[in-house]
Amino acid sequence: EKIVIAIDGPSGSGKSSVSKAVARHFGLEYLDTGAMYRALTWHVVRSGASLEDPAAIIAAAEDFPLQQGTNPDAESILVGGTDVAEEIRSPEISSAVSAVAAVPRVREILIQLQRDFIAGASAGIVAEGRDITTVVAPDADARLLLTASEEVRMARRGLQLGGTQNAEQLKAQVAERDAKDSRVNNFTEAADGVVTIDSTDLDYEATVAATIAA
Ligand code: CDP
Repeated sequence: EKIVIAIDGPSGSGKSSVSKAVARHFGLEYLDTGAMYRALTWHVVRSGASLEDPAAIIAAAEDFPLQQGTNPDAESILVGGTDVAEEIRSPEISSAVSAVAAVPRVREILIQLQRDFIAGASAGIVAEGRDITTVVAPDADARLLLTASEEVRMARRGLQLGGTQNAEQLKAQVAERDAKDSRVNNFTEAADGVVTIDSTDLDYEATVAATIAA
């Protein structure tokens, strides 16, 4: 029988690496919905739409040639045939993504796409993001919220970006993005029936083990 696992959490909570490990463990597909919002933001910027023009953002979302892989061991994300895996992690996209993700019609379109991925995953899927446990898949078999103290989250984020960005700057950017995102979705508190895993004092292995056990 098909298994759906929903994992939410803020930036630097470790949800991407943990979600991939959980998908591998159970032999499931993996869906990074943050990458989907980032790829759409890349497409919006590329199309020349202003981030202050919701109609233009919606037009880009309605014509979004996304190809996203769901293999946890071979992530791939292309827009109109262009591999955007690296560019969607750039500071430019990171600072623009919340504005795109805040447009309600954009969320409708991407949520539908995410549900299609979930429906199409034959063995099952681990889907991660900000609203998977609450909106995208509230009836998932397992629903988890990964958290960690702000200090630990920022440190992980900094490591992930290879220390290329000034630590204070990075902290300010992530805090701003979390603030904007939390106006759209409350991903800092677990909804009813959602299990919280606080990884502040857990290393990667222990977090994965705790997630699998939950
Ligand atoms: O890099 P980080 O893990 O912080 O974020 P991400 O998972 O790559 O998500 C990037 C952005 O996409 C978030 O800051 C949100 O604005 C948006 N997002 C969303 O609105 N809903 C989701 N389910 C996933 C991401």
